[in-house]
This record gives sequence, structure tokens and C-alpha cells, in this order.
Amino acid sequence: MRDEKSKHLQKLLQEVCSEYTSGIVFSTSLSMEDQVITHHIFSNNLPISVFTLDTGRLFPETYKVLENTRNRYKKPIQVFFPNHSKVEELVNHKGMFSFYESPEDRKTCCHIRKVEPLNRALKGANVWITGLRAEHSESRSGLSVFEEDTTRQLVKVNPLLDWTTEDITSEIKQHSIPYNPLHDKGFISIGCQPCTRAVKAGDDFRSGRWWWEDKSKKECGLHTTN
Ligand code: ADX
Ligand code: SF4
Repeated sequence: MRDEKSKHLQKLLQEVCSEYTSGIVFSTSLSMEDQVITHHIFSNNLPISVFTLDTGRLFPETYKVLENTRNRYKKPIQVFFPNHSKVEELVNHKGMFSFYESPEDRKTCCHIRKVEPLNRALKGANVWITGLRAEHSESRSGLSVFEEDTTRQLVKVNPLLDWTTEDITSEIKQHSIPYNPLHDKGFISIGCQPCTRAVKAGDDFRSGRWWWEDKSKKECGLHTTN
């Protein structure tokens, strides 16, 4: 089954590259699923630009994955940082942990550290590839592989939508793809260090993210424009 999905992923990425001659980008959070997509892009020399958003609050282990991936494939992963004056204004005004204070404060931080840099990274892109999976959450289970992002005026492609966690881990093993060791320590969905914690086996996929907030509010704004 995983083999079939792997071939299908390869075919889908190739098709996207044949249909769109330029402006194809992939956003990686360096998660296990994103590493699977990166592996396919880099191993097959696909004309897709890979980028990551460094919020400034990531785990040291995540930075290590970035470096291990660069070393393994010898391909560039472009890093986008937040606007420095916005971050300075935020921390000087609200402190280093304002995100714990209210959902609005949390969203402000996510906007400055993730959404604004993402919008910059997507400028001029025709196609935006992501690692979103249906299993992640109820809202993501309603997505399609091809979505139109009318706000950003591009096509969003979610090639791993029907992949299970087992598919992902088995693909990682099969190709010895570098991955974040935190996944072996109870971390399932990994974002910024102060906003991510380990969970118990069987807990919801995103329960370790923004755990102090109501479940319905758990999106950071990267994927909420559709
Ligand atoms: S989030 O919205 O909660 O932060 P999640 O961690 O589930 O997102 O990742 C879903 C997809 O969003 C990833 O597959 C990736 O395409 C994109 N993404 C999330 N975080 C980043 C990041 N730091 N840099 C680049 N892309 C990211
Ligand atoms: Fe800020 Fe937390 Fe959002 Fe990271 S996940 S940008 S630290 S609120």
C-alpha cells in the first residue's frame, strides 16, 4: 500500500511540474511528512523550490533536521525569517511569552513569526505544495489534494492527504530519510518549542500544539485562508 502511495506521490509531483513550468514551491516544517515530500523532490531533481519558515522559536532538534537534510541531498532549503522590527516590537511590548496570555496574543505571534513570512515566501508562486494530511484534524479531513487559494491566488497541492502515520514512518524507514528525533519521544505534531509538548500514545494528532487553548482554535493561520 505504502509503495503504491509512494509511486502515486512521485507521479503527482511530476505532473504538477509538467503542467506548471515555473513558480512551484514547497513549504517544509521539517516534520516527518514534509521530509517524505522533500525526499521525493530532491531525489528526483524536481524543479520545485523548497523553503522553511524559521520563527526563531524552533527546537534545536528541528534545526538539526534542516542541516542533516541539506547534507544528505546537497540541495538548498531557503529559510525565511520574520520581519525583525515586528518581532522587536512584539517582545519589547508584550514579553517573550505573550502567546500564553490569550488566543489573540497567540495569533498575533503566529502572524508575525509565520504568516507574514509565509506570504512573502509565496509571492509570485503559482503552486504551493504542503504536507497537510486528513488524519491531522477534523478540519483537514475535509480538504482536497488540489485546492484553490483564492486569497493568495495560487493552487495549493496537498499530495499526502490520504497518507496515514504508518505510511509516513514506513516511507521514512525505507529510504532512511532524516527525521526529527523528537518524534521518537512522544512529539507527534511539532511546531515552535514553547507551543509544542509531547503527548501520550493514542492522543489526538495535534493535542500537543497550543495545548492550553480550545481545540477549535488550533490553527496558526498558515492554512486558514481557504
Ligand atoms: S501548523 O499550521 O499547525 O503550523 P503543521 O505543523 O500542521 O502546520 O504543518 C502543516 C503544513 O504547513 C506543513 O506540511 C508545511 O507545508 C506547512 N508548515 C507548517 N509549519 C511550517 C514552517 N515552519 N515552515 C514551512 N512550512 C510550514
Ligand atoms: Fe509564536 Fe507559538 Fe505561534 Fe510559534 S507557535 S509563532 S511561538 S505563538
